[in-house]
This record gives sequence, C-alpha cells and structure tokens, in this order.
Amino acid sequence: MNRIETNIYGDLSIPYLGCGTWQITKADDMKSVVKEAYSLGYRLFDIAAAYSNEITFRKAIAENNIPRDELLISDKVWNTSRGYEKVREACKASLHKIKTDYLDFYLIHWPASKKLHDNWEEINADTWRGMESLVYDGLVRNIGVCNFKKEHLKALQKTSKIKPVIDQIEFHPGYMQAELYNYCLSESILIEASSPLGNGQILSNSVLKEIAATKNKSTAQICLRWAIQKKVTAIPKTTNTDRLKENADIFDFELSEKEIALIDAIPFCGGLAIDSDEVTQFG
Ligand code: A2P
Repeated sequence: MNRIETNIYGDLSIPYLGCGTWQITKADDMKSVVKEAYSLGYRLFDIAAAYSNEITFRKAIAENNIPRDELLISDKVWNTSRGYEKVREACKASLHKIKTDYLDFYLIHWPASKKLHDNWEEINADTWRGMESLVYDGLVRNIGVCNFKKEHLKALQKTSKIKPVIDQIEFHPGYMQAELYNYCLSESILIEASSPLGNGQILSNSVLKEIAATKNKSTAQICLRWAIQKKVTAIPKTTNTDRLKENADIFDFELSEKEIALIDAIPFCGGLAIDSDEVTQFG
C-alpha cells in the first residue's frame, strides 16, 4: 500500500484522496472509519452541517486520539445559512460542534437556485462575502463551493476578493461534466469529486471492468485513479474498512492516455446527476 499522494494544484496542496462521510452518522461507524482511514494515511475528511455528523466526527477524532493539526477538516455551510451574517454564525456553530479553532476548508454546499431565487447572484455574492470574512478572521483557511456550475462561478467572480479554491461536484466516469471541468482547470479551481464511484452505481460498467481486469485492480480503483490522473481530488464514501484500504491503493499503477480516453467516453451509467439550477428540495 502506497501512501496517499498530494495533489499540487496552483497554490493549493491537498491529498488526492479524502474520506467522504455523507450518510455516515452512527457513532460506531464514524469511529471505525476515522480510525482506519487515519491509519491508512487519509488526512482529508469531508463533513457537512447537513450530514449532521460534525459532533460524531469530533468524538471520533477524540476517541482515536488524533491530533487536530494532522487533519484537514472540510466542512460545508447549509442552504438555510446563506448571506453574510448567517454564514458567519453557521461557521462558528460548526467550529463549536467540532471543538476546533479553524477549518481547513469551508464550502458553500449548494448555490442559490435560479429556479427559486430571482436574486440568486446577489445571494451567492453575499454568502461569499461572509465566507471571505471568515478567512480574514482566521477561522477558515480555504474557502470553496460545491455544486456550482460555470455560470455560478462566473457570477461570483464579479464581486469576489478571494477566489474559490475548490468546486466539489459530482464527478465520475459517465458524468465528468466536461465543460465545467475544463473551466475549473482554466481558472485553477480544483475539482473535488463527490460521488467518485457514482454512488456505487457505476462499478459494473463493462469498460471499467475490462480495464480493471488488465490492471488487476477493482473498478472502484479504476474510477479513483482516473480522477486523480485528471488532477481531481476524490472523496469516496464507505463505511467498510476493507474498502477504505482498497480505495487508497491506487498509487502503484497508471492508466494510459488511451485508457483515460475510453473512460472519458463512457456515457452516463449511474449516479445522482443533480442539476443545481433545477433542484427545489435544496432551496
Ligand atoms: P459502502 O459504504 O457499503 O462501502 P460514492 O463515494 O461515489 O458516493 O460511492 C459510495 C458508495 O459506493 C457507497 O454505497 C459505498 O458503499 C460504495 N463503495 C465505496 N467504496 C467501494 C469500493 N471500493 N467497492 C465497491 N463499493 C464501494
């Protein structure tokens, strides 16, 4: 097993692989995932206010005696806390729950949706101003967004003083959002892949299976290797400690350009594919 390598992306250094925690809410699951992940070399942990797992995560760190400064904690502000003042309050509440003085990454979970908000640009700009103030106050080291499309990023750039370092989006074979991916590359915004395994739904794809067989790897490992060769940091989620190990075992092989092109061409074959301009349930 190789250690998790670092993605050096412009001014940002971040592991190529982080530990996703979406749907991990049970204390026992969190404790074993954090313990095993840490011992395997995972240092980046992706949590969110909306996952209701900030306290569970804090307890898992404490029970496993993991020093805070060895971790990169990435948290997200939920949609009910948009706007300058509310995002500041939400961040402080999250810091209190995690019992930490700072977050390594703080991300806007969803852009204000066009469908629900005529003034979506203004709302996102105001929330971003609050995010920037958290950096100035030393409460957050890096700020970014999730589920932002190109138009949301472009709109934000009109008023932002600090550029988002990350856009965390659904990114996996069959759903690489090529236009957004290329835009982020050109703007030096790191893509962080949520659901890099298409929510576990794409692992029987025949192209992935064929490539996996020639490399003696699993299809999950092929998905993750493909992401990191595209300079994407991936945060697969699993509660299974064997899979945590399997997912980190991707630094001893390479995909060829031809194999990458074959994977790029896979049509949609599973995942969530939520359009952030269309969602209504997330406000
Ligand atoms: P489990 O938690 O039972 O391991 P994504 O990160 O794309 O959302 O995918 C998460 C889903 O993929 C979860 O259902 C998880 O299930 C499953 N999963 C995670 N790692 C692997 C793996 N190496 N092989 C197969 N399934 C995996």
